[in-house]
Amino acid sequence: MQIKEAIFTKSSSTWKECPAERMPEYAFIGRSNVGKSSFINMLTNNSKLAKTSSKPGKTQLINHFLINKEWFLVDLPGYGYAKINKSIREGFNEMIAGYFLHSKNLVYMCVLIDSRLEPQKIDLEFLRTLGENHIPFVLIFTKADKLSGTKVRTNVQTFLDTLSAEWEELPYYFITSAETGLGKDEFLDFIEQSNKEVAEIFQQ
Ligand code: GTP
Ligand code: MG
Repeated sequence: MQIKEAIFTKSSSTWKECPAERMPEYAFIGRSNVGKSSFINMLTNNSKLAKTSSKPGKTQLINHFLINKEWFLVDLPGYGYAKINKSIREGFNEMIAGYFLHSKNLVYMCVLIDSRLEPQKIDLEFLRTLGENHIPFVLIFTKADKLSGTKVRTNVQTFLDTLSAEWEELPYYFITSAETGLGKDEFLDFIEQSNKEVAEIFQQ
């Protein structure tokens, strides 16, 4: 799939305010600063579409972007940013959980994982929460340009091995870089296929 058009639709502070249009949604989530907004910009070839920052805590609302007038990309705030005020952090967590528990359009949560790190407790716990709530998800390993290919593959394998300890089936995963565009075509092809699979449900 090629992204021909990406339009910012709206920012919402709760799931109740999210766009009412019935279209498939793919939401990007992960630790603060993992590269969610940068990944969205890389996919859409627009470095200014989603706001990015070298400081964690940049995205603070649920942001919807309409792609090719067919589906939504959703940029979410990050989780696990320790330095942010506790009530703001709890507000983010509530916003994120409210979204994935109630969104009628959500097809996949796309959970971004920093490919440089060993498995982080907070990511594993978040995936567990998604599993407990039967929310489908895929993994996007980010910042692959910062390591050698061998090291990235080792880290990804370690993450998958850790998941195998508690999951019977492993999710789809993508190794990506917002810097080089690695993983872009593969991920967009996945969305195209997924949109076909859900088309009937969304036409009802
Ligand atoms: P919050 O909105 O704060 O939760 O962060 P985020 O997950 O949206 O991260 P963001 O896209 O703002 O990126 C955080 C920092 O990581 C920025 O300085 C980006 O330039 C950098 N970054 C993101 N993706 C990549 C990547 O693939 N490679 C490299 N080298 N840097 C990246
Ligand atoms: Mg962001």
